[in-house]
Amino acid sequence: MSCVLVLGGDGYLGWPTAMHLSEQGYEVVVVDNYMRRNLSQSEDSEPLFTVPNLDQRADLWKKKSGKEISVRIGDICDWDFIASVFEEFKPESIIHYAEQPSAPYSMKDRRTATLTFNNNLVATFNVIQAMHEYVPGSHLIKLGTMGEYGTPNIDIEEGWLNVEHKGRKEKFLFPRQAGSLYHTTKVLDTDLLWFYVRTWGLRVTDLMQGPVYGLETYENEGHENLYPFLNYDELFGTVINRFMVQAVVGYPLTVYGKGGQTRGYLNIKDTLQCLRLAVENPADIGELRIFNQVVETFTVNEIADRVRASGKRLGIDVAVKNLPNPRKEMEEHYYNPVHTGLLDLGLEPHYLTDDAMDDMMRLIIRYKDKIRTDCIFRDVKWNK
Ligand SMILES: NC(=O)c1ccc[n+]([C@@H]2O[C@H](COP(=O)([O-])OP(=O)(O)OC[C@H]3O[C@@H](n4cnc5c(N)ncnc54)[C@H](O)[C@@H]3O)[C@@H](O)[C@H]2O)c1
Repeated sequence: MSCVLVLGGDGYLGWPTAMHLSEQGYEVVVVDNYMRRNLSQSEDSEPLFTVPNLDQRADLWKKKSGKEISVRIGDICDWDFIASVFEEFKPESIIHYAEQPSAPYSMKDRRTATLTFNNNLVATFNVIQAMHEYVPGSHLIKLGTMGEYGTPNIDIEEGWLNVEHKGRKEKFLFPRQAGSLYHTTKVLDTDLLWFYVRTWGLRVTDLMQGPVYGLETYENEGHENLYPFLNYDELFGTVINRFMVQAVVGYPLTVYGKGGQTRGYLNIKDTLQCLRLAVENPADIGELRIFNQVVETFTVNEIADRVRASGKRLGIDVAVKNLPNPRKEMEEHYYNPVHTGLLDLGLEPHYLTDDAMDDMMRLIIRYKDKIRTDCIFRDVKWNK
C-alpha cells in the first residue's frame, strides 16, 4: 500500500487519522514537533488526561494491531527537516494538519498572533515546496476550516462560486471573510495552494472542516492510552467537547452573547472517514478540490440544550450562563453550507444523537476528578 504522511500526527485529529489509515493497510508516517503539547503546557491549559508521546503511541498501536507507524519528530517550518522526510519516504498522499489551530490563542496577544501567522503560513509553504521538489505527482490533503467563509448571507458553496458579471461568467474561490487571525491564516493557505495549483499543477484537496467532537474511534475503542487529547479550556477546547466537560464538573456552560452563532459540526469518526475518502479518491493534477467537511449544523444554544438534556438523562444538573461575547461575530445569522461532495464520495455520517452524547459524557465522567475549573475561562477578547 502507498505511503501517507500525516503532518501534525500527534494532534487531536492526527493520531486517530494515523491509526485509521494504518488499519486500512497504508504505510503511515507521523510528523510532529509537539508544538500543541508545549503550547497547552505553557498556557496552563493541559488536556483532561495525559497522552503518551508519539513513539510510545506507535509502540502501543503495534501491540494492538501488529502494524507499524513511523515517527519523525521535527518542525515542518524547518526546511532541512521536512525535505529529509519527503526525500526518505516519497509519500503518495500528504495530510497536512500541522498548524496552530486555536482562534482564541491567535487573538490573545501579538506574540501568539505572530507564532500562529509564521507557523501556519511557513508550514504550508514548505509542504508545497517539498511536494514540488520530491514528489510532484503526490496528493496534498490540507485541513482548512469552515471559518474561512465566515457567515455570509448566502448559501456557502463548496469552495467555489460561479459569478456572472456584465454578461460574462467566471468561477472564483468562494469569498472568504474569516473571523479570527487563525482563520485568516487558513484563507491565506488556500490562496497559496491555489497559486501553486495554477502554477505548478499541484494536486490538492482542501477540506473546510467544522468543529470536531468526540474521542472514540473504531481503532481506539476501549484503549484509553490510544485516545487523542481532550482539551476543555477556552483556548484549545472545541465547543461540544468543552461544554461536556463543563457539564460534568458543574461549571455553567459559557454561551457567548445571544448564542445564535451557527456552525457545522462533525464526529471525529467522520473526520477519519473524510480523510480516508480523500486519500482513496485523489484530486486531479492541477486541481484544487474543496469540500465542506461538516455533517450537521447547530446554534450554540442548541448545543447547550443538547448537553443539558444529556446531563439530565445521566442525573447531572447543567446550568447555562450567557456571557458578553468576547469575539467579534454575528450572534444571529443565516447559515447554509452545501456539503454534498464527501457524501458523494461515500461518507456515512455519525450524527450527534442522544446516545452519542451520553456515551461521551459517561467517558468524561470517568475523568471527573482530573478536571480543573480554574483553567476553563481565559477571557481572550477580540477587541482589546
Ligand atoms: N479540531 C477541530 O475541530 C478542527 C476544525 C477545523 C479545522 N481543524 C484543523 O485541523 C488540523 C488539526 O487540528 P487538531 O484539532 O488536530 O489540532 P492539534 O493542535 O491537536 O494538531 C495539530 C498538530 O500539528 C503539530 N504542529 C503544528 N505546527 C507544527 C510544525 N510547524 N511542525 C510540526 N508539527 C506541527 C502540533 O504539535 C499538533 O500536534 C488543524 O490544521 C486545524 O486547524 C481542526
